Amino acid sequence: MTGIVGLGSYVPEIVVTNADLEKILDTSDEWIKTRTGILERRFASKDQATSDLAVIAAERALKDANVSADEIDLIIVGTNSPDTLYPATACLVQDKIGARNAAAFDLQAGCTGWVYAATVGAQCIESGMYKHVLVIGAEVITRMMDNTDRGTYVLFGDGAGAAVLSSVSRGGFLASELYADGSLAQHLVFPAGGTRKPFSEEVLRERAYFTKMDGSDVFKFSVREISRVSMKVLEKAQLPLDRVDWFIPHQANLRIIQAGAQKLGIPMEKVVVTIDKYGNSSSASIPVALDEVYRKGVLKNGDTVLMVSFGAGMTSGGILMEWWR
Ligand code: UT7
Repeated sequence: MTGIVGLGSYVPEIVVTNADLEKILDTSDEWIKTRTGILERRFASKDQATSDLAVIAAERALKDANVSADEIDLIIVGTNSPDTLYPATACLVQDKIGARNAAAFDLQAGCTGWVYAATVGAQCIESGMYKHVLVIGAEVITRMMDNTDRGTYVLFGDGAGAAVLSSVSRGGFLASELYADGSLAQHLVFPAGGTRKPFSEEVLRERAYFTKMDGSDVFKFSVREISRVSMKVLEKAQLPLDRVDWFIPHQANLRIIQAGAQKLGIPMEKVVVTIDKYGNSSSASIPVALDEVYRKGVLKNGDTVLMVSFGAGMTSGGILMEWWR
């Protein structure tokens, strides 16, 4: 079985409160709190790009795993906010941490990026191709948001989480599932900078170099997918829902988390919530939340953890694992 043998995360030091956003947008602390559950979020400093956050999380995960950088065979960075369109942010991370023997690529699957990366990484181990795979979810996603759009700007935060995957003798990944529905792609888009709409004066005029989102369509998709994907993963592992000790959904909106948990019948005591402190850090949200419960010491050997995400694409996916360290 493949499992997580080391975890690490990093959130930038700059705290942006709802009161800070009230100063630049037609919004209120009350609206943000009640409609999203977010109290504050972290912003990367001007000199930090996504690879800088990823490197800190990766080094913490390597230390926790007691695995050296040159033992890593593959690095996958799940991100929607790479340092540059190319080269891949994973290659920059490979160089910065000194993982000389690692292959490296980015994986873009919306906020489901880390769940996709961990699933693909685990398969590379299961197949016998690699021994140690570093899977990272890292974002400076706030830089892709329009600070004149209250519908998106208040929601997001920056961060990075990393896990070292290896073969394990106890526990590990019990089941995972990945999904995509490209017919819904238009609901969450970063329009410019690709080959469809290269940078131009028109792009600047339309502010197409920022994220555009149909919030309520994404909301409906998310609530539906949280429960559907959870049941699919549990079915695959042939485990009943009441065996889940920790539920870690993607942190996009507290109302989505509560509605998903309620639909499934999972009590909120089992649900890990970090959105109040970090907002939606996209691909980083699940590994950051997982690292938090691990560091707090509340995650016990033998605990069953269900992680489920959804995001641009639209994508969704889940991993069920038994935790052993
Ligand atoms: O990671 C995956 C990607 N993202 C998501 O999962 C996000 C999913 N969507 C959501 O979380 C919610 O749809 C939002 C938080 C984005 C919006 O909440 P909502 O309850 O769906 O509000 P709404 O879009 O229906 O807007 C309700 C009202 C509107 O005003 P009117 O038209 O009723 O006068 C908005 O203009 O709230 C207004 N509004 C705001 N007001 C104050 C929207 N954003 C704000 C704001 N501050 N920041």
